[in-house]
Amino acid sequence: MHHFEQRNGTLFVEGVSVTELAERFGTPLYIYSTATLKRHFEAFDTAFASMEHLTCYSVKANSNLHVLRLLASLGAGMDIVSGGELYRALLAGVPAEKIVYSGVGKKPGEIRQALTAGILMFNVESMQELIRINDVAREMGKVAQVSFRINPDVDPKTHPYISTGLKKNKFGLNIDLSLEAYALARDLPAVEPVGIDCHIGSQLTSIEPFMEALDKLLVFYDKLKAMNLDIRYLDLGGGLGINYDEEEPPHPTEFGAALTKVLGKLPLKLILEPGRVIVGNAGILVTEVLYTKQSPNKSFVIVDAAMNDLVRPSLYGSFHRVEEVEPQGRPTQDVDVVGPICESGDFLAKDRQLPEVRQGERLAFYSAGAYGFTMSSNYNSRPRAAEILVDGEQVIVARRRETFESLVAQEL
Ligand code: LLP
Repeated sequence: MHHFEQRNGTLFVEGVSVTELAERFGTPLYIYSTATLKRHFEAFDTAFASMEHLTCYSVKANSNLHVLRLLASLGAGMDIVSGGELYRALLAGVPAEKIVYSGVGKKPGEIRQALTAGILMFNVESMQELIRINDVAREMGKVAQVSFRINPDVDPKTHPYISTGLKKNKFGLNIDLSLEAYALARDLPAVEPVGIDCHIGSQLTSIEPFMEALDKLLVFYDKLKAMNLDIRYLDLGGGLGINYDEEEPPHPTEFGAALTKVLGKLPLKLILEPGRVIVGNAGILVTEVLYTKQSPNKSFVIVDAAMNDLVRPSLYGSFHRVEEVEPQGRPTQDVDVVGPICESGDFLAKDRQLPEVRQGERLAFYSAGAYGFTMSSNYNSRPRAAEILVDGEQVIVARRRETFESLVAQEL
């Protein structure tokens, strides 16, 4: 459910016309809907209302400060993976005690920064990382709360680049070797093992892999209890999928019901790290048609957005629904929608039935709120797009369009 809809022949985001936004701010343009963001966060969070929990929005999906501020105001904690994300989360007003820090390669400076802020815990991914966190914390006279990220060897049945909980993936600690890690953590002076963590992948469209992982974690939890460890948190990561095309992911309510049924009575606080499911369908990327051209067996629509703006189609072969901002009712044709970048991999849509479009008309790419702007780059020296947050009739420039000066600012 979102707030992007056609009204009187043109696309609206809540109370604002996309054509007007594109004319005012130019294209390519990311546009997010506040009402959709709120709705998605609340639907997810209330799905776990019956048990003690903390929803830590995964900043990597969309790290715009205005988005973070909005989610923080709704009570969200945050899942971060870098010092930069920590900086953003704190700037957005997220209380440090609602922040969990994931990722395989935390640097000493980043560990220090997180301990200074007083985050809730580190999700630790290797023995060496544990020792490093212990060293840094001891130097600072602090004790760091830690969870280990357990790799449960479960197949999330998603794109190989975004499955993370298989034995062959770089993430987490092998479940069979993890008891040793907890024993070491118990014995080190400046770390306290307080939780179990896992994240098996992203864009999961069924609940079963989560349940399979959970079953394995609960067997493991019993072993930790037998070691007299005081485990208080269970972090199940993120990964719930969304509808891009014809997927039918479970509704958060169904997801919440399945998890709380298993976990409801245990003395554990559940932590969740949703990213895509909160922001994915709360954003679109608007682009203008520059040229159209026919070659003998292909038709191309060349637009002003490119793989540097939205890399998912090039990188994962992802599908993003595309529609005219102002539908003209022309017959459809089979086209590739491509950008101006000098690579054949620069496409936003391939072999798509799209109504014939003309120069100067605009297209909207849907489901662009997650891993859209955050994965954008300056490749081909293209200034990055502006980001707009709409709230009813109100328009907030969440990020100004980059300029040529901003492209070279760090080089002068
Ligand atoms: N927690 C951890 C430890 C993660 O690694 C991730 C995502 C999340 C939470 C959030 O997962 P989500 O709820 O958004 O599925 N760039 C890819 C997605 C990469 C996901 C990486 N980790 C894409 O565009 O599909």
